[in-house]
Amino acid sequence: MLVFDQKRELKNFLDKERENSHAIGLVPTMGALHQGHVSLVKKALDENDTVVVSIFVNPTQFDNKDDLQKYPRSLEKDLQTLKLESPKIVVFAPTISAIYGDKVNSQSYEFDGLDKVMEGAFRTGHFDGVGTIVELLLKTVAPDRAYFGEKDFQQLQIVRKLVELKALPLEIVGCPIEREPHGLAMSSRNERLSETTRKEAGFIYKTLRAAQEKFGTESAKDIAAWVQSEFDKNQVLDLEYFQIADEDTLTPVAKRQEKTKYRAFIAVYADGVRLIDNLRLN
Ligand code: PAJ
Repeated sequence: MLVFDQKRELKNFLDKERENSHAIGLVPTMGALHQGHVSLVKKALDENDTVVVSIFVNPTQFDNKDDLQKYPRSLEKDLQTLKLESPKIVVFAPTISAIYGDKVNSQSYEFDGLDKVMEGAFRTGHFDGVGTIVELLLKTVAPDRAYFGEKDFQQLQIVRKLVELKALPLEIVGCPIEREPHGLAMSSRNERLSETTRKEAGFIYKTLRAAQEKFGTESAKDIAAWVQSEFDKNQVLDLEYFQIADEDTLTPVAKRQEKTKYRAFIAVYADGVRLIDNLRLN
């Protein structure tokens, strides 16, 4: 399996692939790969001739030094996982300086308010960091399609906006959330949870499912109050936010509209680890 750590060499390789009319898919990741990532890779393999998987823990999207430092890293294991998937996979695993040189800074973006709510409100500068790395990856790889998980639904919508703003000629493919058997959304951060907490964190999805049930008959305000009270009773999990929002604009629900698609978004702390999830409501 080819592993590149420099943009120039990756670009040269991909130019040749394109000359052979190979369709290129890109799956950006921060590594510590799990079945959620692998589901994106499998979809990309189905739809493209060559699949670039990038593995890069992007420092500019972390608003918390401790979170960046403790972010799980397992490059050798990740390479083994990808090797087993397909010989069509090419890995891009650059160093920080290969990406940022000596200036580890974000650009700033205007995402039409998509970045002002939820993750954007609670993690200052997060989406400027995501925008910066995703724009660089999309421009370096110039894929036909790039794959992002609904696990980070707000990120998916922001990446769609980025592609529109920069008029990049590619398709963004959204992929469903992969879950552990008890419902917890798979995440690299789950590795940092104790076994008991990891089990208990199934409560997050259970609560989202209950909110989905209630959405048929109860107001968004009542559902939010109920979710808060459920977490108040929970000894292990701390609710940071629960928000029902319009799936396209991410604006919090005010007066419910017939044709609007709504989604519930949640962020929770468990063992000092921040977990996010979301679920379509209607
Ligand atoms: P990371 O958290 O590694 O996730 C990489 C991709 O995998 C994202 O598109 C994410 O939504 C998707 N993903 C993660 N867990 C998933 C799950 N349980 N089911 C389905 N998809 C899942 O998201 C990032 O990295 C970074 O912000 C990145 C886009 C790479 C930019 O640095």
